[in-house]
Amino acid sequence: MEDYEELKYDVLVIGAGAAGMRAAVAASDEGAKVCLVSKSLLGKAHTVMAEGGAAAALGNADSKDNWKVHFRDTIKGGKKLNNWRMAQIHAQQAPERIMELERWGAVFDRTKDGKINQRNFGGHRYPRLAHVGDRTGLEIIRTVQDKVIHQENIDILMECTVTKIFAENNQAIGALAYYRNNGKLVVIEAKAIIVSTGGIGKSYRITSNSWEYTGDGHALAYLTGADLQDMEFIQFHPTGMVWPPSVKGTLVTEGVRGEGGILLNNKNERFMFNYIPEAFAAETAKSEKEANDWLNGVEGAMRPPELLTRDVVAKAIMKEVEAGRGSPHGGVFLDIANRRDADYIKKKLPSMYHQFKELGDLDITKEPMEVGPTVHYMMGGIRVDPETSSSTIEGMYSAGESAAGLHGANRLGGNSLSDLLVFGNIAGYSAANFAAKCEDLTIHKSAIEGAIEETLKSFDNDNTEDPYKMHAELQDIMEKHVGIVREEKSLEEGIQKLKNMEKRLEKLKTTGGREYNPCWHLCLDLKNMVITSLAVAEAAKERRESRGGHTRLDYPEYDEILGNLNIIIRKGPEGINVIKSDKDKMPDDLSDYVAKEAV
Ligand code: FUM
Repeated sequence: MEDYEELKYDVLVIGAGAAGMRAAVAASDEGAKVCLVSKSLLGKAHTVMAEGGAAAALGNADSKDNWKVHFRDTIKGGKKLNNWRMAQIHAQQAPERIMELERWGAVFDRTKDGKINQRNFGGHRYPRLAHVGDRTGLEIIRTVQDKVIHQENIDILMECTVTKIFAENNQAIGALAYYRNNGKLVVIEAKAIIVSTGGIGKSYRITSNSWEYTGDGHALAYLTGADLQDMEFIQFHPTGMVWPPSVKGTLVTEGVRGEGGILLNNKNERFMFNYIPEAFAAETAKSEKEANDWLNGVEGAMRPPELLTRDVVAKAIMKEVEAGRGSPHGGVFLDIANRRDADYIKKKLPSMYHQFKELGDLDITKEPMEVGPTVHYMMGGIRVDPETSSSTIEGMYSAGESAAGLHGANRLGGNSLSDLLVFGNIAGYSAANFAAKCEDLTIHKSAIEGAIEETLKSFDNDNTEDPYKMHAELQDIMEKHVGIVREEKSLEEGIQKLKNMEKRLEKLKTTGGREYNPCWHLCLDLKNMVITSLAVAEAAKERRESRGGHTRLDYPEYDEILGNLNIIIRKGPEGINVIKSDKDKMPDDLSDYVAKEAV
């Protein structure tokens, strides 16, 4: 039997983006002894890729804003598939979470009268994004990290990856993990576990996500028996870099459009005027003149069509490219140079300025950027209770991108940063209180042995599958069969290919030893990517309609019945079970408000 370190905590937090760190702070504030596991170095997480801001109805830039309008925008942007109660809690609590960050030292941009400044973003009726230039995620993670390291009862395991969550009688009781630098194993017993591992973007080739985003939490939770929900909804952010090839997919913040940037095709046409959906027609500028009124701050002016929701803008770009009106490298043009002066651009979008200068040798204060859709965010995830963030497994919680519900079929930009603060706090509080009432449970030695064997399986000399080749193959399958637009026959083909790949996982081969070995790490990550990819494809096949981030060429309309159902992915003896489940019904007063305000 392999050696392993043994640790014991009240609460184990898996994933150290801002959701995990905020959860750790909340749990430790409740008196829990907390272990925070970070796959990479602390502070490096996809949180930084929410650049443009955190949405919260503070009402600083427009006093008409309030939680109800934010709630309504979130539901409308999510194409009404959101969990209404999560959307309500989020909209109500986001302002307090932002103010708290400020008390913890976050340095936000300011209005002239010294309040936290807020900018426009797609789908938000009022300027609502508290921001720090275009480095908001970075500032938030820096602030929460500073808080975490000064709490007394949080231990941090850095460069450490969890490979198994143990459960007994449907209750989570601990995890097995390995240290990436030396390959040593650690068993962490915990009375409550919070999964906050972010998204699944690395299953796709073109993504804004960094290497950690391999669906670990989704797969760990699924294998433990937890329900996954609405996995078909993946957000393609409309603006990723398309050139040069080495940085294809890197995020170009929506803040560029929020600050007045416009999208143009190769005929120099502002094409978004041609893609305004009926549901947004009453609140979107339909001409250059109306859009310029907005840019010039005319009271009551309508938002420009570049600030339609991400699902709409991403599909419009795809259509322009398909119609032969794309830019030289297969995207469209994003122009801020002719809209704002150079000093303004450098002040409000410093990272974009540097990113294009350094990576693309292009000065965005002088020339337009080339941009196209990139996989950015997973709306689906672990099914959670809105009040407590608990999953369907007792003692297991989830917060941030790994949890489902808040964003429905399409997330509004800026809602992820406030999501992770609001629900990170709730998950941490709930987990700590669950742990306080919970008996100690022991992980059986046989379960540990089995999990260790599985973790080290790829070292078997008889294995033959090259993980790098398999990863490239997986990305091809997902881009081709489960991309921005989908269709039954192609999805079925994709599912078949993924099922074949799932069988080949057994034969993945690690070359080299256990000390910092990316080949071994990829073998382990691939299992999670294949499981979550299958979940996405199966759910996408079952949702025979088009809604938000999920577009079916063969079912191009909304389906009223499906619009009231969540698609649940549950592990069964033969593999994935796909179950349709009634969505929680919104109370009449809120639903009347959304219907009235939606016009
Ligand atoms: O475009 C952006 O800055 C991304 C923000 C977000 O995903 O919330």
